[in-house]
Amino acid sequence: MSERDPAAGTTAGPPEEDPRIRGERHPIARMIALGILASLVGIAIVLAIDWFPTPAAGSADTIDTVYDVLLICSVPIFVLVMTVAIYSVVRFRAKPGDMRDGAPIHGNTRLEVVWVTIPFLMVTALAIYGWIVLDDLEAKQPNTLVVNVTGQQFTWSFDYPSEKVKSNQLVLPKDRPVEFRIHTKDVLHSFWVPEFRLKSDAVPGLTTKIRLTPNRIGRYQVVCAELCGIGHSTMRQNVRVVPTSEFSSWVDNQKQAAGGAPGGEQAGGGEEAGGGGTDGAAVFAANGCGSCHTLKPANATGTVGPDLDKIDNPTSAFIKQSITDPDKVVTKGFQPNIMPQDFGDKLSSDELDALVEYLLKAQK
Ligand code: CUA
Repeated sequence: MSERDPAAGTTAGPPEEDPRIRGERHPIARMIALGILASLVGIAIVLAIDWFPTPAAGSADTIDTVYDVLLICSVPIFVLVMTVAIYSVVRFRAKPGDMRDGAPIHGNTRLEVVWVTIPFLMVTALAIYGWIVLDDLEAKQPNTLVVNVTGQQFTWSFDYPSEKVKSNQLVLPKDRPVEFRIHTKDVLHSFWVPEFRLKSDAVPGLTTKIRLTPNRIGRYQVVCAELCGIGHSTMRQNVRVVPTSEFSSWVDNQKQAAGGAPGGEQAGGGEEAGGGGTDGAAVFAANGCGSCHTLKPANATGTVGPDLDKIDNPTSAFIKQSITDPDKVVTKGFQPNIMPQDFGDKLSSDELDALVEYLLKAQK
């Protein structure tokens, strides 16, 4: 029969063997052998990579195991598919000048059942495994320390209700279970300490939770893992995991600094209290101003907004306006719509006055 006869393929009897794969011995066995070899290499590579920082919580090892299992399951699938695809492209490509159509194929029921069933079983097994692990990690523990975490553009603050302490630092006792209750004052953020592995979104109107037990003394960072605005990348804060005794003394110090200590002592070397007995430094700290602004007296080094050590127009009227209506006058070199517009609602008039006075004093 003629090679160029268009009717040849449709009228002929049994299909002729395609000359392009004639002589290829056991192509499927070869592809599978290559795929298995490549999968083993792939698994070895992904398991050798240190994907995460040193674990610092009980949950971390379990999560790392889940991650390894996922890699072991997904890498061979990727490698196998790619091997078959690349092998077929290279080995069975049309020779130059070969313009014939490929053999007509109407599907292969057995193959389709296999490639639906295997992924279905794998995904189901992984889902059950993940559910068991999550259920285990989220189990309530005795003697849990509750920490309210609040995200706002662009800072985190922490509140220890049982200790009656509020702070901009996260300090945690080693080996004591912690329950983080995560809130946000404005947009979506995501609370993440990579060394603890667990991560949860902070969602307006909701309280989300994470339970974990820090088990390694050290200094880590809370990272915001959800794009939340121009200062997103600066939304980081220190986490310290300390021995229980150090945690107790930290709690005592915080209480003293807030003036609520049993001894009633004034915090040494602190800023003078601002208007109406409200401490402007505390307002500055509690509202996270330092994550966007530089201010030497507060040890703040933010660069998202203007340097508050040298305010353009150092009058109380201007400073007040810049806090409550920040886009009215935008400092040269900075953009509008970055500073939250609602500090006028969030701050009481006492707090606002104290903050203005505090910033004014910093200008001298
Ligand atoms: Cu908050 Cu990103």
